[in-house]
Amino acid sequence: MDSVTKVQPPTKLNEPMPVVQTWNLGKVYRTGFWLNQKLRSLKDCSLSVYQGETFGLLGPNGAGKTTLLKILLGIIRPTSGRGVLLGQPIGRREVKQRVGYLPENAYYYDYLTAWELLEFAAGLFQLPKHIQKKRIPYLLDLVGLAHKTARKKQLKKYSKGMMQRVGMAQALINDPEVIFFDEPMSGLDPLGRYQVREIVLSLKAQGKTIFFNSHILTDVEQICDRIALLARGELLCVGSLENILGRSDVYQVIVKGGTQKDLEPWIEGIREIEHSWHGQLTGDPQEFMVALSKMDAQLLSLNKARASLEEYFIEQLRERGLTTSQ
Ligand SMILES: Nc1ncnc2c1ncn2[C@@H]1O[C@H](COP(=O)(O)OP(=O)(O)OP(=O)(O)O)[C@@H](O)[C@H]1O
Ligand SMILES: [Mg+2]
Repeated sequence: MDSVTKVQPPTKLNEPMPVVQTWNLGKVYRTGFWLNQKLRSLKDCSLSVYQGETFGLLGPNGAGKTTLLKILLGIIRPTSGRGVLLGQPIGRREVKQRVGYLPENAYYYDYLTAWELLEFAAGLFQLPKHIQKKRIPYLLDLVGLAHKTARKKQLKKYSKGMMQRVGMAQALINDPEVIFFDEPMSGLDPLGRYQVREIVLSLKAQGKTIFFNSHILTDVEQICDRIALLARGELLCVGSLENILGRSDVYQVIVKGGTQKDLEPWIEGIREIEHSWHGQLTGDPQEFMVALSKMDAQLLSLNKARASLEEYFIEQLRERGLTTSQ
């Protein structure tokens, strides 16, 4: 398998490098007492994630998100297909030094303090002490944990939000180039979600590649460059939010009064429906309002043309009859 799993170099200069690439990945779990039942949790999954991208893998419970992430990290083996992570076939030990991972249900020795946990994680990567001394305080600042708390308080006394932030610091101890977060916002209150989102955005600003699983669609909408939608193990779509949902600055308008000739420069695809003008606004909404007052016309409605990710997500699942979780 290794001999054929090579990343193609970019064909043009400045073309982004794929950090993750998969071809027809599939996973069948054997279940039941005699392991004689088969459960297919991933099917023909092909995708690419590029350097510096924040990529969101969405899907309902049981869609196969964690399975895909674990395959990419080499924690479980695929049943079919192949993949490449940072230029190496997935599962290679040497790549692990360059990768960070926050598991879905992380378990830590809860009698440790955050500081001790980070020292432990640093030890696993054999980080020299002088680097640990700089890296640990830096990460605590990044995830917003007070140094005093991190030194004194045992993890068992942490709130869920604090645990999630410690988990993120632990995932970043080796200064990874690519970071996998499995449901980093799940179970957090709005403040906790905001804090995690800010951490992800600051990693993105540092040029890290971020791959995360989520079903909190508003967060995904705010931070992801591209998304993939997975349901029952199959990828339904992959693309940028703009490609999938359309541009976020496009408005549908309905206007009463005025003439078609006056409105045409402002409204694309203008058509008259029940004595009002309908179409897509081409200019700035504020300037349009001023222009309308001069035309003796009245704005009846102005709505964003783009559907929310949530509407899109539900629509896609409904179209395929997948609105029940596995
Ligand atoms: N070790 C396993 N053995 C057998 N079946 C498994 C195993 N792990 C996962 N599955 C099954 O594979 C399917 C996909 O599970 P997975 O955990 O990847 O979904 P998910 O999208 O991460 O779900 P969630 O949003 O709930 O975390 C599910 O039907 C699950 O029951
Ligand atoms: Mg999962």
